[in-house]
Amino acid sequence: MATGAKVGRGFGMKVMVVGSGGREHALVWKLLEDESVSEVVCCPGNAGIAESARCVPIQVNDTEELVRLVQKDKIDLVVFGPEEPLVRGAADRLRSRDVVVFGPSSLAAALEGSKVLAKIFMKRYGIPTADAQTFDSFDAAATHVCERTDGPVVVKADGLTRGKGVVVCADSEGAVRALREMMVERKFGEAGAWVLVEERLQGEEISVMAICDGRRYLLLPCSQDHKRAQDGDIGPNTGGMGAYSPVPLVDEGLMNAIESHIIMPAIGGMARDGTPYTGVLYAGLMLTESGPKVLEFNCRFGDPEAQAVLPSLELALGETLMSAASGNLSRTGQVPAVLHSACVVACSGGYPGQYETGKRIEGLEKLRGAEGISVFHAGTKKEDGGLVTDGGRVLAVVGTESSLSGAIARAYEGLGRIEFEGMFYRRDIGARGLRAAGAGQNLSPASD
Ligand code: AMP
Ligand code: GLY
Repeated sequence: MATGAKVGRGFGMKVMVVGSGGREHALVWKLLEDESVSEVVCCPGNAGIAESARCVPIQVNDTEELVRLVQKDKIDLVVFGPEEPLVRGAADRLRSRDVVVFGPSSLAAALEGSKVLAKIFMKRYGIPTADAQTFDSFDAAATHVCERTDGPVVVKADGLTRGKGVVVCADSEGAVRALREMMVERKFGEAGAWVLVEERLQGEEISVMAICDGRRYLLLPCSQDHKRAQDGDIGPNTGGMGAYSPVPLVDEGLMNAIESHIIMPAIGGMARDGTPYTGVLYAGLMLTESGPKVLEFNCRFGDPEAQAVLPSLELALGETLMSAASGNLSRTGQVPAVLHSACVVACSGGYPGQYETGKRIEGLEKLRGAEGISVFHAGTKKEDGGLVTDGGRVLAVVGTESSLSGAIARAYEGLGRIEFEGMFYRRDIGARGLRAAGAGQNLSPASD
């Protein structure tokens, strides 16, 4: 088994990745492709990550232990996967101990940590987003949604809720129910002390991510997540059933508009506010009839967007993240995709509801070294010398190719070789992209 150490490499940079999901596996994989990276350590990691990097069982919020390991192992750069430690100030605490960190300060991470602050920020800098009102009183919020006559609303808890704090409401009764759960019953604790009541937008949803150094940024190709559990975008919301990148619907003009109306003012605004943004700025966007609008900002790579986007890039990730963390990106602008990619997530039967774990995973060895197919682990663990399922989202299989249709075919070819009891996955990842491409829209970077 590999230890994560590589000999004979350029600068010999040691990188620590914090987290344990498919996103972190994709980060580790891309970092190890970079000649300037000699070793990757992952805390705590997972069974798949352990095949190529050293995993150390330190939990993501245990800053003291992370610092101890950084100092003991002379780690050059720490890259955070999940949002929670960042919002709680982990990057600040590490920086105060002279650790080089790729991830925003807690004040900058408030773009994800507080939907109210993010909305105020967007309004101040003219960043297009849904109109919204803020409430800290249930009675006032409930009266407001009942008196509104301009159509359905979306109710959002202010704080972190692990993706569960947004309710797209069909009518005012649904909105009042959501408000009561958040503000009175405190379903999400203090995260529901404040809420946003937001106009409901219509359109295609896409995600963009920018690697930022506080002033400059590299805007990565856009992607499209598939949040619903079943084909045709029906069924319950999940942590993400798959993604593809780039998105044919987003032509060069639209990407430029996203850059100049959303990414540029956001990075500039954060710097002007004295909270420069260092790390990944993720923007979830709705492509409305009146242009792209921000649904949410996240302070980290998307999951499963990272698994889709990173394999499509020709980018020395270690060097790039080190430059960004040091406030030293060499340029601002877009990073083109050199390949199309499609990522399909294989889940445990029952997910996102109740599911069983401990099911033996078969067939992964058939994919080792397969051309244009990568497998990123999310919920797996080693048992009796084999691999078993250990979560709802188990594996992401990513296909890369010079066309979107080829990338999708590769991902499904890979999935066809894997098996575990109860395994299910969406069969239509990328179908919207293919339809848009078929309708004659620009398919960058290569033509189908
Ligand atoms: P968020 O966590 O803010 O991205 O919200 C989760 C999901 O809720 C988004 O991916 C959208 O599908 C939906 N959503 C959020 N805000 C709106 C909105 N203003 N209009 C319509 N749908 C929304
Ligand atoms: N895929 C959505 C997210 O990472 O928040």
